[in-house]
Amino acid sequence: MALVSFSVNGSAVEIDVEDRTLLVDALRDTLQLTGTHVGCDTSQCGCCTILLNGDAVKSCTMLAVQAEGVEITTIEGIATDDDQLHPVQTAFSICHGLQCGYCTPGMVIATIDLLKRHPHPTDEQIRDGLSGNLCRCTGYLNIESAVRAAEVALANGVPVEPPAAQ
Ligand code: FES
Ligand code: FES
Repeated sequence: MALVSFSVNGSAVEIDVEDRTLLVDALRDTLQLTGTHVGCDTSQCGCCTILLNGDAVKSCTMLAVQAEGVEITTIEGIATDDDQLHPVQTAFSICHGLQCGYCTPGMVIATIDLLKRHPHPTDEQIRDGLSGNLCRCTGYLNIESAVRAAEVALANGVPVEPPAAQ
């Protein structure tokens, strides 16, 4: 067992984990942050995506002990201080970028990272940025619409609006 200390959603945590424990399992099972999902645990689906020091990372690809000293943000931590949904969450809701919702926490986190790196992404950059996140339900078009709606809202500091065509 090993003691590992890091920050999650702005709070310092210290947990005892087995050396082999995946970060995603520590988040879900030890810290009860079950919004981070597991779809494969082999680095393919992106359901487990979190922000680690601000960058999107698949949390099944690293061990919990490797998180010593880092800052983690999970889907539970992206709402604003007054408990409003993050604009990317609102965009996924308004644009119907989800059906069963299983992929959605990872999609939302990956989109936050995408729009941080490319505030006005091309279609190719959107597809490339979300290429590590699989969705079995939506067909991806509404997800792309959600990214566009979030892009406008974040760039202009305005509420999320649905695309004109919807
Ligand atoms: Fe991590 Fe699928 S659970 S990529
Ligand atoms: Fe069901 Fe994406 S909404 S897997």
